[in-house]
Amino acid sequence: MSVLIRGGTVVTADQTFRADVLCVDGKIAAIGPDLEAPTGVTILDAGGQYVMPGGIDPHTHMQLPFMGTVASEDFYTGTAAAMAGGTTSIIDFVIPEPEQNILDAYRTWREWSQKSAADYGFHVAITWWDETVHADMGTLARDEGINSFKHFMAYKGAIMADDELLYHSFTRSLELGAMPTVHAENGELVFQLQKKLIAEGMTGPEGHPLSRPPAAEGEAANRALRFAEVIGVPLYIVHVSTSDALDEIKRARSAGQRAYGEVLAGHLLIDESVYQNPDWDVAAAHVMSPPFRAPEHQAALWKGLQSGDLQTTATDHCCFCADQKAMGRDDFTLIPNGTAGVEDRMALLWTHGVGTGRLTPNEFVAVTSTNAAKIFNIFPKKGCIGVGADADLVVWDPAATKTISAKTHHQNIDSNIFEGMKVTGLASNTLSRGVVTWANGDLRAIKGAGQYVKRPTYHAAFEALAKQTTGKK
Ligand code: URP
Ligand code: ZN
Ligand code: ZN
Repeated sequence: MSVLIRGGTVVTADQTFRADVLCVDGKIAAIGPDLEAPTGVTILDAGGQYVMPGGIDPHTHMQLPFMGTVASEDFYTGTAAAMAGGTTSIIDFVIPEPEQNILDAYRTWREWSQKSAADYGFHVAITWWDETVHADMGTLARDEGINSFKHFMAYKGAIMADDELLYHSFTRSLELGAMPTVHAENGELVFQLQKKLIAEGMTGPEGHPLSRPPAAEGEAANRALRFAEVIGVPLYIVHVSTSDALDEIKRARSAGQRAYGEVLAGHLLIDESVYQNPDWDVAAAHVMSPPFRAPEHQAALWKGLQSGDLQTTATDHCCFCADQKAMGRDDFTLIPNGTAGVEDRMALLWTHGVGTGRLTPNEFVAVTSTNAAKIFNIFPKKGCIGVGADADLVVWDPAATKTISAKTHHQNIDSNIFEGMKVTGLASNTLSRGVVTWANGDLRAIKGAGQYVKRPTYHAAFEALAKQTTGKK
């Protein structure tokens, strides 16, 4: 099956040029001006549009069992919605219960993800520790293409990683050439503040941000970075939401640490006032962790993205509908934490990044796709427009507009935190390994067509390179 994308302007993380792109059997076969159309090829007219690597969302939670319920978006509906917004790959999370065998959990998530329409990988959360976890991390890294391990420093009493666990898992990650990642919030502090607020009678969603102050995030970011510094391992901090955490990343980077930060579209664009909404359902729909913050944090996060101290953008797509959020009607600590956005991230980043001059189109590609591919070691298969790369592409119409709404989105959730926001710049066509899955409003995502993408550890990549150069088998 071949598709020729004709007449567009190719935008990569480092170049912009006029070229046609020929996709054959799922790969990019040729890039150049006025390419000849092979017999039987489908021609896609990209005149006046950009052709960019499809988005990679490195932080999603499809059908996650969490806080007594299960996220409403499954791997099919979620990845289909992603394609409608120009995102062609996700990295989701395997989250074992404490004491659950991590290989068993991994197999469960692999089973659930069979129906994915887009390509996907997994970070595996380390939620407990013993010798089997140590050994199984090796199996995952060596045999299953897992090169990143996640640590939740929050969610005490559930999946929280304490300092001892961080020490062991970071050390093991270093041994394996894998990347430790953290959700940085001081879980003890959050737990105590939650108890205090509830005892004082503050039971509504307005208590949520008060129980998770910026300092709790800054402290955890600093602690994780200091562990990484001492152990000598890189560190990736997910959903950085405060200048407090960003400052810790900046400090670590300027001291020579390999420290990376991810920012969510939501944290860039939504502020904490949403928790004051008198409509309980609307306020609860915004309950996610870390919470939305005061506007000065948003300004700092944009600067972090511009300066390169934050490298990736994600959504933490984790959908709970109103009936699920209602589990916490009398106690905000029981509201399932999570919000959506996998469909909207690209348009929001274009509108508020490129549209405002904060990001160039090339920087947009870097922060929505290429940087994630590089950090998680799937570049140039993903995040790249080059001959031989997967033909995961988005044809981007910079003039197209829409108003985001739960009434029209494809995500399986009954609200949208970006409701009513107007965006300019939209995916007109999305191609997943050369197959058109979104064509001018027509969603053609195919259930089960997504492939699991193995992500070799950094050691494995270097070993493979060394074998190639020395000719050893
Ligand atoms: O509120 C959130 N973010 N829910 C999903 C789990 C997590 O912390 O990433
Ligand atoms: Zn988190
Ligand atoms: Zn998350």
